[in-house]
Amino acid sequence: MMDAWNRLKTGEKVLFGFFGVLGIVAVLNYVVLEWWRQTSHQQMFPIRTHYDFAGEGFQGSVLFRKNNCSSCHRAIGNGTSMGLDLDGIGSRRDLPYLVAFLRDPEATYRSKTVEHGAPPKDAAYVSQLPLEDQHAIAVFLSQLKADRGGASAQLPPPGQSSFIDAMLDTWVPDSWRVLFSDVRKRDNARDGATPGGAPGNTQGKGNEH
Ligand code: HEC
Repeated sequence: MMDAWNRLKTGEKVLFGFFGVLGIVAVLNYVVLEWWRQTSHQQMFPIRTHYDFAGEGFQGSVLFRKNNCSSCHRAIGNGTSMGLDLDGIGSRRDLPYLVAFLRDPEATYRSKTVEHGAPPKDAAYVSQLPLEDQHAIAVFLSQLKADRGGASAQLPPPGQSSFIDAMLDTWVPDSWRVLFSDVRKRDNARDGATPGGAPGNTQGKGNEH
């Protein structure tokens, strides 16, 4: 081992030494973070999705687990991340879309599907489930909402950012203010948005036209 090391040129020693140290630091970081995660009682990340299991949606959540969706998807904090994370999907997709996707994914999904669709795709069985089961699951999925500012939400966090206002004032040509509207001022009735950021409260300076 030492022999092999001594035969290396100086440049190679520097290079391998550098990546060796980098690897050790990465492993140490991982160990410390995992230890912290497992022993800490504090919440590590804010949770920006919520759900409300009313009626058919509750039944759908049972069917979701029973039909192995969580072997590929994450929902209500459970499952794997092999497929898409479905927490918050109710803020991105509406019920008719979800019903249509489960029945006929290839015609509904915007790009080519990998797992859903016709056999031999692994999730082909999903479109063969009884219609009423698909509907209940779709209702369940539509109840998985994202809060404003969450990764799967359409709207940014409520409130004013002087930084964003300054950037807009500096960089945005006047013509854009006519062409585009400020998403921060959008009505948050849709999107399961948290109340409090009503359109009137977020007065972006210079955005009036
Ligand atoms: C074998 C893995 C796998 C299984 C099992 C699976 N899915 Fe999927 N799912 C995916 C993948 C991958 C995608 C992305 C589309 C594609 O490539 O097929 C997806 C996409 C979706 C979408 C569309 C999301 C969007 O934004 O349009 C929904 C809804 C969905 N799955 C629900 C389900 C439900 C409900 C089940 C169980 C009945 C299920 N999936 C089982 C892998 C899987």
